[in-house]
Amino acid sequence: MPNSPVQDYIEAIHAELAGDNSGALADYIPELTHADPEWFGIAIATADGAVYETGHSRQPFTIQSISKPFVYGLALEDHGRGDVFRKIGVEPTGDAFNSISLESRSGRPFNPMINAGAIATTGLVLGRSHETRFQRILDLFQRYCGSALSVDQAVYESESRTGHRNRAIGHMLRNFNVLQENPRPILENYFRQCSILVNCRDLAMIGATLANGGVQPVTGEAVLRGEYVESVLSVMASCGMYDFAGEWIYRVGLPAKSGVGGGIVAVLPGHLGIGVFSPLLDDRGNSVRGIQACQRLSLDLNLHFLNSPRSRRPAIRHRLTGADMRTRVQRPARQREALSALGNTIRIYELQGSLSFPTVETVLREVLGEGFPVHFVILDLGRVCSIDTSAARLLFDLLIQLCSAGFRMVFSGARPHAAFRRYCLSHLGPERQDLWLHFCDARDALEWCEDQILGEAASCEECSPGDLELLAGFQDSEKAAVLALMRACTFDAAETVFREGDPADALFFLTSGRAEARILLPSGEQQTVARFRPGVAFGEMAVIEDAPRSATLVAVDACSCLRLPIEDFRGLAETHPAIRMRLLENLLAVLSRDRRSANREAAALHR
Ligand code: DON
Repeated sequence: MPNSPVQDYIEAIHAELAGDNSGALADYIPELTHADPEWFGIAIATADGAVYETGHSRQPFTIQSISKPFVYGLALEDHGRGDVFRKIGVEPTGDAFNSISLESRSGRPFNPMINAGAIATTGLVLGRSHETRFQRILDLFQRYCGSALSVDQAVYESESRTGHRNRAIGHMLRNFNVLQENPRPILENYFRQCSILVNCRDLAMIGATLANGGVQPVTGEAVLRGEYVESVLSVMASCGMYDFAGEWIYRVGLPAKSGVGGGIVAVLPGHLGIGVFSPLLDDRGNSVRGIQACQRLSLDLNLHFLNSPRSRRPAIRHRLTGADMRTRVQRPARQREALSALGNTIRIYELQGSLSFPTVETVLREVLGEGFPVHFVILDLGRVCSIDTSAARLLFDLLIQLCSAGFRMVFSGARPHAAFRRYCLSHLGPERQDLWLHFCDARDALEWCEDQILGEAASCEECSPGDLELLAGFQDSEKAAVLALMRACTFDAAETVFREGDPADALFFLTSGRAEARILLPSGEQQTVARFRPGVAFGEMAVIEDAPRSATLVAVDACSCLRLPIEDFRGLAETHPAIRMRLLENLLAVLSRDRRSANREAAALHR
């Protein structure tokens, strides 16, 4: 099973950044100095619950300040936006996270992300007792993560023992009546909240919950009311990275929150959450590798939230197998039988809308998901309006992954997507240009895939008169009687056999070469509507209804046919009525098969 290109990508980023040992472990909380500087994990969780992770993504660490926006969301639910706003501002300060300051005019903490605002926020969480209030906080994070969490008691005790600055802040808040009760138990709850143990996967899932409108993608539980999601994301975007918030929004462009434990959570609203962890911090208290990883993810995957708005419409409009979709080609029975068991090894995905990382990720997941291996993948881009660079890169990586595993991926659709084509051809290199295949539509792409499966059988361009499809089930004597009425004829490549509108005067049986039926479009272009391989008949509508030709029939390459004049066919009614009936029955069987496959395709399009 090929690796997901998304997984390969995050592993490559991890390998690229792991060597940077700059920064230092947090030491003002002594227990935090026990972290391993080598620890480095990355995780991405999509709004529908898919997770990609690498490195020390399961290494537990204390959430620290990352807890702040989510407890802020709980306070909003407990008190409403107005009351909370009267207590705590939402203004970024550009100051350090532990600055001891209040707004001069209102006496409020500037925002809920700096420690003063966060301690005030923890004080707003309702509950009959401080234990109940903390239990609500722990339960909140368990619902965000969709798993049980615990407190690192050693870190809690270490911070409670050394948290003098925060105690000063707590008493300052009491002094200005921001806290209206004894600050000590509130501070202990704050220290415990910061000591909740999480890992990268948990952070990514917390971010994905916000991305998913406050609903946990896996459990489906509504963790935060949708109306408060934007408030939480707003303070993360404006204040989440403290005095790095401006540069963060400029370079990364995702609402985020960092913690001195070394974690960072970032959110692309509507699409995904990111969790990164590495305990080496810069002088602002943010993870050095964590910031670098988020910058790369945002740059390479075009995640900046001010980028052109991304579609939330599913990228996959329809999904079919080779057994569902019809091609234009009329194949003889032996080819149809060979394909009948293998049609499911061809998958067709009709994509739509703007392809960016969030939308293409779902395509990759489905192609490589259940039901793999799929020998041929057709991505129809006809309804795709744009392919951004991250989507182009991931689709190309998928193409290479599938080819390397012995499978093929081809594209189809009227839109040229020239930039994507250039990207693929330029990255394939001169010796692998053949791996880029694009067809005008999915039916032609499917025909090519079928021919690859048939291999030699597809290219056998001969059919003896006795094996003609419309003569199936005939006795030899009956075949001889019909064949005696036929005249052999040949056509050169590109020669017209008959034209649209001509009177229908014969039925043709193709014995070698290929032919196709074309109609004239209002634009004056010709559209191929059917292709014929040796062994099948064409022009058969003449037999059924006395009407002009509905298409122009052209020999694609040099063809040999047997021609049955319409009057001789009609004469069978007198001379060999049973043969005529059998011919009509076989003809109806062909039409019935076409109708059934049309019904099957229609049903698949509504799956
Ligand atoms: O209050 C403190 O200082 C810590 N418990 C949390 C600080 C923190 O995570 C700052 N963020 N980078």
